This record gives sequence, structure tokens and C-alpha cells, in this order.
Amino acid sequence: MASYRICCLPGDGIGPEILAEGKRVLERVAELEGFDVELEDHLIGGAAIDATASAPEGATALPEETLEAAKEADAVLLASVGGPKWDSTDPRAPRPEQGLLAIRKGLGLYLNLRPVKVYDALIGASSLKPEFLHGVDLLIVRELTGGLYFGTRERIEDAPGAGRDGEPGIWCSDALEYGEWEVERVLRWAFECASRRERRRLTSVDKANVLGTSRLWREVAHRLREEWPEVAYEDLYVDNAAMQLVSEPTRFDVVVTENTFGDILSDEAAQLTGSLGMLASASLGSGTPLFEPSHGSAPDIAGRGIANPLAQILSVGLLLRHGLLEAGAADRVELAVERALADGWRTADIADEATPASQILSTRAMGDAVLERL
Ligand code: IPM
Ligand code: MN
Repeated sequence: MASYRICCLPGDGIGPEILAEGKRVLERVAELEGFDVELEDHLIGGAAIDATASAPEGATALPEETLEAAKEADAVLLASVGGPKWDSTDPRAPRPEQGLLAIRKGLGLYLNLRPVKVYDALIGASSLKPEFLHGVDLLIVRELTGGLYFGTRERIEDAPGAGRDGEPGIWCSDALEYGEWEVERVLRWAFECASRRERRRLTSVDKANVLGTSRLWREVAHRLREEWPEVAYEDLYVDNAAMQLVSEPTRFDVVVTENTFGDILSDEAAQLTGSLGMLASASLGSGTPLFEPSHGSAPDIAGRGIANPLAQILSVGLLLRHGLLEAGAADRVELAVERALADGWRTADIADEATPASQILSTRAMGDAVLERL
């Protein structure tokens, strides 16, 4: 019997609550499909900062032990990190998000996939009119280990001329940097992926009218399009893409873009599905693949048992499909989520005026609703 090791990272806020549901689904589907999963929890984010506060090397959002465990696992299942407790404007204070960025970098996960699928049952939960949403099924491919997120950062406390009236002041800079291969490997993946989908459309999003890195992006994309003539390729400026995502979302199939644009556009696209609580993501690259919801740790509702676990459960689906290559199990999980929604079950974030109070479930009960339908 196949056996897989899964490194689980609950993190902060609603993280532990939603991860618990993801784990239950993973264990149950493994049983049903006849394979074994070994789940082990490790620290990341604010939880890791707190646990390492008195360590001689200082507090860290990604302990060495966690990165090592992730490297040894077959897949990583992460929940969410961050919270007001660790929000500080002190540039030297460790931040929970650093743990997330460090594990992405440490595992070489340069590709982030964010499927955006509108479930018919949830059309009423979106803030957009239903006629724009029927059939939305797009995939955002986001570059994940380059650009502004990992470029050179600088801060000068007393920079000449940075203050009012030419006085000294604080000066900051974040560099947007990309090497040719960093761009090419992501675009190659996006072309290949688009060529295997039904509509075979690829939209490359950039800001080539302003940024040099975007012109590099476009140059590489245009070179590669020759290799995939069956893919209907287009370039779109990011501002225009942001607009069209809400004016005509069904026109998109695969959307490929750099790190920061992908971060912003994926939150926007999540709103098409009714809630950020529905969006799962897969991060792939050279090391252990990692799967996580696209949403944050929602500190405002943490500990209340009302968070939507579906993005976490759908991340389990992606883990099964892309991490363990257990497509049958992945189908089962995705179908179970779809059925739970079709049967009218909702968490508070995806309920609308028409939802009876009796159909609004807690985090645990939504986990049960999916488990029953596996
Ligand atoms: C995401 C998140 C992260 C990001 C944050 C928490 C660092 O917003 O996964 O989209 O910006 O990548
Ligand atoms: Mn984000």
C-alpha cells in the first residue's frame, strides 16, 4: 500500500481550525482509496515566532526543523499565517509572513496555481450579477519566488531630501527583479497547461508599457508562443486585466503573471466565487510541493468555529492531484465539496439572504458535510 508523509502547518488565526477539517478529509479519502497518509504538525508563522521567542538565535517564523521536515515530506499542507499580535511597524521585528515566503523559497516553489471556479450553487453569494458568472473556470498561474517579494530591500533612516522641504527623512526601496529563466520556467508551465485544457487560451498579464521586467516577460512569452501554436495567446496590461476580470470573467482560461500582480489579481478573482474562503492553491517547483488556501488567517473570526474550511479542503484536493498523483482521490474530494454546496450547506461567508439559518454551518459541521459525501 502506498504511504505518504504530509507535513502539516496549522499556523495562526483560523489556521488550526480549518486544517483540522482538511486533515479529516485527507485521512478519510486515503482510507476509501486504499493508501496511507502520515500527518505531522510543525510550526510556522506567528505560532513559530512565539515558540522561538527565547531561542538563542532569536525568534523566527520558519524554524529550521520545520523546513527540514517539509523537505523530507511528500507534500506540505499549510493553513494560514499572520495576525494583529505580530503586526509591528518595527522593520526589525520578525513577521509571520516571512515564514511563508521563506518556505516557498526554501522549497524552490516558483509556481503558484490558483484555480477559480464558480460553483453554480454559490452564484448568489458573489457580489457580481449572476449572468456574468455562469461558466467561470479560470486558472491563475502566479510566479512565486521572484519580483518585488524577493528583490533587494533598502531603508535609510536619514536620507537627504526624503523629508518635507528637502529635509532628511526615511527613504525605502523594494526592487522588482527577474532573471530570464525565472520568467521562462513559469511561462513554459503556463503554455503547457493551457494546451491541455479545453479552451486552450493563455492570457499573459504584464505592465510592459511601463516596466522593464514586464518587457522581458513579454519577450520570453512571444518566443515561447511559437512552440505552442495551438494555444490562443494574448497579452494584457494588468490594469486592463483587473477590469476585465470583473466585466467579463468568462473570457479567461489560463492567466499567467508575475508575483505581485498574481497576488492582487487572485484576491480579485476569488470574489467571483463568492468568497476568498473558496480559493485553494498549489505551489510547485523543484522541492516538496505545498498546498494552502489563498486566504489569510482571518484573525477577526479565529477561535469561533465559523471559518469556511472549503479552501483548505480544496487544497487537499490539489495536494492529492498534483502532490501525490492520486487523481481518483482528488476527484472524490472536489465532487464532495460540490455536492455539499449543491445540497445547500453553507458557512456564514458564502451564505446569502436566501439561505435559511438552519443551513449555515460551523467549520466542523461543514467538514462533516464533505466527509459524508466522499
Ligand atoms: C498569498 C498571501 C501572501 C502573499 C502573504 C500572506 C505574504 O497574500 O498567498 O496570496 O502575498 O503571497
Ligand atoms: Mn494574497
